[in-house]
Amino acid sequence: MAYKWFETVAVAQRRAEKYLPKSVYGALIAGSEKGLSSKDNLESFDQLGFAPHIAGLSNERQMQTTLMGQSTSMPVIISPTGVQAVHPDGEVAVARAAANRGVLMGLSSFASKSVEDVCAVNNQVLFQMYWSGDRDTMVQRLIRAKAAGAKGIILTLDWSFSNGRDWGSPWIPEKINLKAMVKLAPEVIARPRWLTKFAMTGRFPDLGAPNMAPVGTKPPTFFGAYYEWMQSPLPSWDDIAWLRAQWDGPFMVKGVSRIDDAKRVVDLGATALSVSNHGGNNLDGTPAPIRSLPAVVDAVGSQIEVLLDGGVRRGSDVVKALALGAKGVMIGRAYLWGLSAGGQAGVENVLDVIRGGIDSTLLGLGKSNINELTRDDVVAPEGFFRKLGS
Ligand SMILES: Cc1cc2nc3c(=O)[nH]c(=O)nc-3n(C[C@H](O)[C@H](O)[C@H](O)COP(=O)(O)O)c2cc1C
Repeated sequence: MAYKWFETVAVAQRRAEKYLPKSVYGALIAGSEKGLSSKDNLESFDQLGFAPHIAGLSNERQMQTTLMGQSTSMPVIISPTGVQAVHPDGEVAVARAAANRGVLMGLSSFASKSVEDVCAVNNQVLFQMYWSGDRDTMVQRLIRAKAAGAKGIILTLDWSFSNGRDWGSPWIPEKINLKAMVKLAPEVIARPRWLTKFAMTGRFPDLGAPNMAPVGTKPPTFFGAYYEWMQSPLPSWDDIAWLRAQWDGPFMVKGVSRIDDAKRVVDLGATALSVSNHGGNNLDGTPAPIRSLPAVVDAVGSQIEVLLDGGVRRGSDVVKALALGAKGVMIGRAYLWGLSAGGQAGVENVLDVIRGGIDSTLLGLGKSNINELTRDDVVAPEGFFRKLGS
């Protein structure tokens, strides 16, 4: 079937909702507790406006930059997201799309595809880890990622194991087998195109986490991997410094909200940090990252690459974050909607839509380069920003 281009991420999301079984769609919507943070992530971007120019605009606009020691065609990284039965090619399709569009790919340690398979199609992979398992296990994961060709590590630290949602959590089976398919049948039958796509591969959707097991051994199920993580003693700042010292390349800490934590991340010698609330999936009530970004940039922006993730759906959102001091952003659900709606082509479509949005926003603001953006380009309502910690 011919690929049908979508013009915004919102259109891709509507397509994903029509195409995916209800619980798979629900797993991507995610969010925690009352959904305060996931809602704020989106609404906060809507509250910001622009101060455009009308003449003397630039015919050429430049958005190429470097992030985590890698050259990128635009200041956008694919944020790591865990195993999802969204598309049979999953993370490999995303990695191909990212490589074709010249952007970095964050690969979750809970991904459904191995780091070897993903690095085989993309040479700008950042492998994401949680503090899970003992030190030897974590070192083995780093060694494996390096051998596969990963260029950097993303250590995600914001997770509070909350498991309630006011709108109800989708049922996710331990394994997708015949029994699970029968239980899911009513919603799957209502989505025949999704079912056909998997039927054509002759396999059930994969809910294993191959990067959580030593190479050549049977991967744990997603829940098996999650259990290991839940059982792991929580890390101190010294533990994090130890892990950083085990990797001799670019290292990002993801999930920072507070200024004091950002300073600690600088002290341990990280390359980058991402101001993030895990897409509103962590401690509900954590403000949207775009609100706390400028305070973090003011405190540590000259010493470390400050990125942001959470709520980015448009090129104009990327420009807002850059104008407020981010060096780049990471996107999560935006590309998951594209993957659901159209596989690799859908992710490329999302990246193209975002690139087009960055370009037209730069044009309207009279900028020839993303480096020229300043806080004056953005209009924020009084009381918009948050300063967390000191
Ligand atoms: C379904 C889903 C799964 C995710 N899994 C992971 C993960 O495995 N590792 C991680 O560091 N972040 C994970 N995240 C968080 C994303 O990397 C990112 O922080 C978040 O999606 C950004 O918000 P956005 O979706 O509004 O762009 C996940 C997010 C979603 C929505």
